[in-house]
Amino acid sequence: MKKILPALFLFVSVSLSAQKIEHYILEDWTFHRGSLQSEGVPVCIPHDWAISGPFDKEIDKQTVAIEQNGELAATEKTGRSGALPWIGEGWYEREIIIPEGYPYVELVFHGAMSEPVVYLDGVEVGSWAYGYTTFVLDISKWAKAGRHRLCVHLRNVEESSRWYPGAGLYRPVQLRMGQEVGFRSFGLFARTLEASEESAKIGVATSLRAPGPVEGLRIRHRLLDNEGREQACAEGSAAVENDCTLLLSNPRLWSPEKPYLYTLVSELWRGGTLLDREETRLGVRTLSFSADGFKLNGELRKIKGVCLHHDLGPLGAAFNCSAFRRQVSLLKDIGCDAIRVAHNIPEPWQLDICDEMGMMVMAESVDMWIYPKCANGYSRFFEDWWQRDFTNLVEVNRNHPSVIMWSIGNEIPEHGSPLGPGISADIQQLVHALDPTRPCTQGMDRVRDAIRTGVFQTMDVPGCNYRLHYYREALEASPGGFILGSETASTVSSRGVYKFPAVENHTHTFDDGQVSSYDLQSCVWSNLPDDDFMWQDKAPWVIGEFVWTGFDYLGEPTPYDEYWPSRSSYFGMFDLAGLPKDRAFLYRVHWAPEKETLHILPHWTWPGREGEITPVFCYTSYPEAELFINGKSQGRRRRVDMSLDEYEATLDYVPTPWGDSTRFLAAGVKEEDNRLNRYRLRWMDAVYEPGEIKIVAYDAAGNVAAQKTVRTAGRPHHIELLADRTSLPVLSRDSSGFRNSTPELAFIRVRVVDKDGNLCPSADNQLYFSVKGKSLRFNSCCNGDATSTEVFTEPTMKAFNGELVLVVEAGDTPGKALVKVGSPGLRPATLQISCH
Ligand code: GAL
Repeated sequence: MKKILPALFLFVSVSLSAQKIEHYILEDWTFHRGSLQSEGVPVCIPHDWAISGPFDKEIDKQTVAIEQNGELAATEKTGRSGALPWIGEGWYEREIIIPEGYPYVELVFHGAMSEPVVYLDGVEVGSWAYGYTTFVLDISKWAKAGRHRLCVHLRNVEESSRWYPGAGLYRPVQLRMGQEVGFRSFGLFARTLEASEESAKIGVATSLRAPGPVEGLRIRHRLLDNEGREQACAEGSAAVENDCTLLLSNPRLWSPEKPYLYTLVSELWRGGTLLDREETRLGVRTLSFSADGFKLNGELRKIKGVCLHHDLGPLGAAFNCSAFRRQVSLLKDIGCDAIRVAHNIPEPWQLDICDEMGMMVMAESVDMWIYPKCANGYSRFFEDWWQRDFTNLVEVNRNHPSVIMWSIGNEIPEHGSPLGPGISADIQQLVHALDPTRPCTQGMDRVRDAIRTGVFQTMDVPGCNYRLHYYREALEASPGGFILGSETASTVSSRGVYKFPAVENHTHTFDDGQVSSYDLQSCVWSNLPDDDFMWQDKAPWVIGEFVWTGFDYLGEPTPYDEYWPSRSSYFGMFDLAGLPKDRAFLYRVHWAPEKETLHILPHWTWPGREGEITPVFCYTSYPEAELFINGKSQGRRRRVDMSLDEYEATLDYVPTPWGDSTRFLAAGVKEEDNRLNRYRLRWMDAVYEPGEIKIVAYDAAGNVAAQKTVRTAGRPHHIELLADRTSLPVLSRDSSGFRNSTPELAFIRVRVVDKDGNLCPSADNQLYFSVKGKSLRFNSCCNGDATSTEVFTEPTMKAFNGELVLVVEAGDTPGKALVKVGSPGLRPATLQISCH
């Protein structure tokens, strides 16, 4: 290992003739569904060949018992993996041109769904198995100067996923060309060794790709602040492996609240010739996990996280930076500070965005090891591939300050088998060798089994999936004296749907395939958000939680796994379109108490329910509120705290046939002792009469602090549009014309309202979209209805409970465009969007 010293001299002459060339996205391809002989269509990547549908019940129909859900008998499951046509084969082909003077050529696939096999001029040049891994193929042997035909074959088999995986080149593909000697791709590792307000030490390890002698090579590292000013520098002669420490005065530390980033510029020189150059963005920050809790930069904080699958709703699995940015900003608004990338390897741009916007990440890997959770899942590959997959997970992503821990698996069946501790220890050891700075975790649902076999005790950060009633046992077993709620809640709801009576339950299903938004239904293995709030608030040794899930996702339509049409989840705080469900506000109250929240549910348009009990809930940051129905006070409600013991006395645990237990509200618990009173103000006896409901909120001193009114809506009258932005950058390209980002999108919230502008909360009008102007195009639409079989990529869709989201995309040409939304019988709406 070569030690590089802090900078002592300057380089003088510079030859840039052979600078590295890097195209971030090879965007234009011809796509063939099935065989290469079938007719090709031009596509741009990231591309998901299945997202345009059609939805079909028969796709990936599975007759299985979902063991993780405690099912004992096999039944027919439809929509489990999204009911979109992702199964089958596909080919992508395009030309690449290699200029003279580049003896080293590599391709980087940031995931390809799945089992990619890559051909150059008909010769197989490499392959991978798992669809989520970034992998590098050195194609120098074949890619001599000139034109080449690049083809990628992909193949997806049925029963290989428990959710919608997407299909195709759904993440960027990079072409990099350089000299024989250069930095090994993903061989650079920069990490914070120490950091305080006064100073920081950054360790930088670099490894070279050097087929020949390394004499005469020099490496220089410069650390620049976010205005490009040099803050530290080191240089010296290079070996294959190199190590140096950069000293930084008065560092700006990275945190979700202040996500400050530095740039490390690393150069490799021979004499006066620059052979290679890499830029790495860095955040300076420290992490610690102990019985005191989780500390970032020495400060104690609870992780307020959500689990996210990789699909972006109507965009499918095709990664898009602005869609993910939107998700992150919606999450940040409710006080969320962390994402668990469930249950797969993240995408580097996803992590760039988390670095920039300030979002911590649990970077996960796989959903199974040797024992299959679905017949053709990752277990087909685990034994041959785990070392390569975990190596790439860590090497590719370890420079991101947002990543705070690695997850080596989710609910792995081996947790309960004698194989479990050994495999856990092997993976953890590999991960530690590649990154000694971050702990490993895994999500364990069979908490008692994992304790019995010792898997639980093996982990740096023992993660419990649900099973709050085992948290104390888990603490006893935890070597570090702390545990993480690696997966929590699994509460289900459909945006804008309310069912009566409003009672806590695990099992209610309805003919319409929807779930009530009173936020009272969780799964038999899970619990309500309020239960997690209790443990997070009261147990200092629980270091945080990752809620299942932030956004609805395609596939896994629990509790409608056997109901058609139902093809996407109900777990999200936000629906599949990214519209907030009531639950988003409940989390906002808990996670962002400093922000004002005053949210009322349900809506107040219930023709036919006159005189019937229609409970009203208020999620508010204020301690007390009063409800008025048509001016008549229904009384004040106050948030009431309780201890963990008092809380536990309100619950009964009932054994399940599969040897676990599930929680119910204990019989005889009085309304005023209900644990839900900690975070919800509830008027359980409210009676519906048309008109208006008003909530008046009081501060701690009892003064009126805020108020909000919801009115009974009249007939649908017109359409309202509300865009997240009305000005979009056109596609950016590098000097050779290659794109280095994904298209910019605007998300337009479309609402059907009455003549006074009140949302019509059950409107299902068919809406039609058009875009006029060369600068912008229709991208997709989504109404968040898990039972809809309308495709996302046609410019028409029904509103779901009065709303949907229309997505438009900026192209290459600057200019203004007009978006129009119409529907028979409704006054249409238009919106101007400018692209620059
Ligand atoms: C968990 C599992 C998730 C999802 C969730 C639904 O057990 O880890 O992938 O299936 O249940 O509640």
